[in-house]
Amino acid sequence: MKVIVTENKIQGGAKAFEIFEKGIKDGAKTLGLATGSTPETLYQNWVKSDLNCENLTSINLDEYVGLTPDNPQSYHYFMQKHLFDKKPFKKTYVPDGMAKDVAAYCKQYDQIIKENPIDIQLLGIGRNGHIAFNEPGTPFDIGTHEVKLTKNTIKANSRFFDNEDEVPKSAICMGTANIMQSKKIVLMAFGEKKAHAVKEMIEGPITEDVPASILQKHPDVTVIVDKAAAQELDDKYKN
Ligand code: PGA
Repeated sequence: MKVIVTENKIQGGAKAFEIFEKGIKDGAKTLGLATGSTPETLYQNWVKSDLNCENLTSINLDEYVGLTPDNPQSYHYFMQKHLFDKKPFKKTYVPDGMAKDVAAYCKQYDQIIKENPIDIQLLGIGRNGHIAFNEPGTPFDIGTHEVKLTKNTIKANSRFFDNEDEVPKSAICMGTANIMQSKKIVLMAFGEKKAHAVKEMIEGPITEDVPASILQKHPDVTVIVDKAAAQELDDKYKN
């Protein structure tokens, strides 16, 4: 895994954008995109740029079950607001949180990913080492699935809602197997609260207890961390 340590999340977002921009100029057509506070600085750079996205397809990692696309807490809404409204794509896929048959819908989403192989996948990481909503204990070989959110994730995400009870209890989420099939992966993590998860991901054993640790097996992963998120890493990673 290649590790890039930046001064702060502003520089981290600029670095991540450089990688996406170069990848797109080199021919990447399908991007796996992510939501949350972490990618915001990347999207800020993206919308300010002159990058044309009209030939690109995006596939998002996840969506809450039960939220409509116009709900301000939905990941559909997040993507519209932070990227798609300002940079129209040829086609964008975000899981349908209102799907009636969630299990059947997950299979459809796997099919979408199969038909549109992801060239560059963006990821964040949770404090417990989750990637997307793949929580500790999730099998590594799983495709798109419905996830019951853990108490910790509900608590962490409640900052975006009026109170914890309003946080949906489950989500539709790409599995670790989908993520590992991407040609290239860019994972961003900022702040000291992510420091332990970052260390476990890079230096710890590969274990389903730390879902992000599977990335050690991927041939092309770039991790962009600020100094705070890098603080527990071995010195050899601190460039
Ligand atoms: P955050 O979430 O970007 O809001 O910190 C990342 C994650 O939990 O994957």
